[in-house]
Amino acid sequence: MNEKQAQERVNELHELLNKLNYEYYVLDQPSASDAEYDRYMQELLQLEEQFPALKTADSPTVRVGGTVLEAFKKVEHRIPMLSLGNAFNDGDLRDFDRRVRQTIGDDVQYVCELKIDGLAVSVRYEGGVFVQGATRGDGQVGEDITENLKTVRSLPLRLNEQATLEVRGEAFMPKRSFEALNKIKEEKGEELFANPRNAAAGSLRQLDPKIAASRNLDMYVYSIADLGNTNVSSHSEALNLLERMGYKTNPERRRCLSIDEVIDYCESWTVKRADLAYDIDGIVIKVDSLAQQEELGTTVKSPRWAIAYKFPAEEVVTKLLDIEVTVGRTGAITPTALLEPVKVAGTTVQRASLHNEDLIREKDIRIGDYVIVKKAGDIIPEVVGVVEDRRTGEEMPYEMPTHCPECDSELVRIEDEVALRCINPKCPAQIREGLIHFVSRNAMNIDGLGEKVVTQLFSENLIHDVADIYKLTKPQLIALERMGEKSANNLLAAIDASRSNSLEKLLFGLGIRHVGAKAAKTLAQHFGTMEALSQATLEELVAIHEIGEKMAQSVVAYFANPDVKELIEELKESEVNMAYKGPKPIDASEVDSYFSGKTIVLTGKLEQMSRSDAKAEIEALGGKVTGSVSKSTNLVIAGEAAGSKLDKATELGIEVWDEARMLEELQK
Ligand code: IVH
Repeated sequence: MNEKQAQERVNELHELLNKLNYEYYVLDQPSASDAEYDRYMQELLQLEEQFPALKTADSPTVRVGGTVLEAFKKVEHRIPMLSLGNAFNDGDLRDFDRRVRQTIGDDVQYVCELKIDGLAVSVRYEGGVFVQGATRGDGQVGEDITENLKTVRSLPLRLNEQATLEVRGEAFMPKRSFEALNKIKEEKGEELFANPRNAAAGSLRQLDPKIAASRNLDMYVYSIADLGNTNVSSHSEALNLLERMGYKTNPERRRCLSIDEVIDYCESWTVKRADLAYDIDGIVIKVDSLAQQEELGTTVKSPRWAIAYKFPAEEVVTKLLDIEVTVGRTGAITPTALLEPVKVAGTTVQRASLHNEDLIREKDIRIGDYVIVKKAGDIIPEVVGVVEDRRTGEEMPYEMPTHCPECDSELVRIEDEVALRCINPKCPAQIREGLIHFVSRNAMNIDGLGEKVVTQLFSENLIHDVADIYKLTKPQLIALERMGEKSANNLLAAIDASRSNSLEKLLFGLGIRHVGAKAAKTLAQHFGTMEALSQATLEELVAIHEIGEKMAQSVVAYFANPDVKELIEELKESEVNMAYKGPKPIDASEVDSYFSGKTIVLTGKLEQMSRSDAKAEIEALGGKVTGSVSKSTNLVIAGEAAGSKLDKATELGIEVWDEARMLEELQK
């Protein structure tokens, strides 16, 4: 066979294998036997070996797993991967419905979908070919797991059309594959996976794609990230389009015309979920119309047009063996229940939070009690109550310690706070927890520097404060137990990469009291550099919309501390970036435009540009675009079929423009 003939056969085999694959894994309607499929696959593998030039990145042979990677690259999401707000009962669902109607009126349809319990991934296609897949990570930056995702048979390597788009979905491990995998692991004496979600995540985080290929992963897609030039006007249409392109979407979705129908759907799946071939942890409810989704918008964390209904948590009873207290990063003392091991929602639990002393008193929890345990949000175990009927009289009431379990200084209760605190700034537990916080995902995000390694480095006296992390050397790391040369290299590379993080990550990581991730971002955006922020006055800080008095005081006090000055100098010397790198927010007062400083509402359908583009342009010119009309609205821009918002604007005597007038102003 010459190369030209080989090329022809390769093309045929691509088409054939893709078709068989689609029938088997997406449609669940195989038209050929496994043996036949394997034969074609072998033939293709042989041809690729003989003519390596014919092997393409989207060849069906990549399904069996390609080259082993050194490490996962980071991928910045072009469009952030948000999460969802939660609803735990009918009341929460009705509240959601009310909020939606307040903004978009009563003409609303929902789509309910199963909330697959796997891990969120984003997949990008160029000209119809799968080019990149990433984990969610912190929502902004994830990990490149392209090669592993290629082994997920239901994910198309090539679409039915030459589309360029980014699609989001959930990769998961079916229950049967999970059980089979754990059985093999048990036979080999290996550690078992706690649940299918962990197994799926563990499989996709393997550097060798052959491992992922052997794990029978599956994937449902549930949205198009950038609807850019697609011609769809609702979420259901988007799902249908995805299906036509060759993706696997979940067939159990249902359109609902009222919140009562939504509640029925949620209730019916609370029971039926046990019969599914895969785990679900809730139901996702989405407003169907994309125009309405846009109108509702998103918060920094999650869209206002969707919510996740979480199934009621499983509750189990076990014995409380003892209570231990731990010291957090801020010195807060948290009691933790030590339990007789018990299985809850898929994992074995031995510890559960008791939050604070008041809770122990309120629920009258005694050592030796049988207690009810559940997982909050199906993740964090907590003790919810006591089974009083099972008391024998031997149970012992618990007394909180008076001194810190780590540094022995006297604990104090600060006014208005429920928690006891250790206020010794040199308390080793606080320092260690602060270091763990510094390297965590939403802070400096240093891979390979988890809780265990930080604790190890800290107890070996290799790091005393966060600046020391940047002074670690390879010989120091290799000398640690269970740290090989390769892990040491990876860790040093990850530490190095974190030097160039944008300022907000560092600010959040420093753990300034009351400054969460969101406030850190606001401060970084506003001041631009650590230098400028460190000189900010209380007045300047409280003048920022999102910054309250308490936080402002805490920031000023933090930078006034000479130890902090020294720490920041040290970080600077280690070349840790001290500047904000993201997009600058627009300072309305600096832009000379009609929109500058005005509050504007967009409503109805625009013909010439999408509503999100109009919003972006207005914001770039210093305007603030909000979702609902009120007395503080300065201008309403009404497209086709504008409804209740236009009425309200007229009623309040607010200026109303049509689209043409807006375009005229935007083009000035
Ligand atoms: S929609 C803006 N639909 O649930 C976020 N998410 O917090 C849009 N998930 O980890 C998500 N099944 O991966 C959506 N049918 C579904 C889903 C689903 C599972 C996961 C998602 C994310 C979490 C949402």
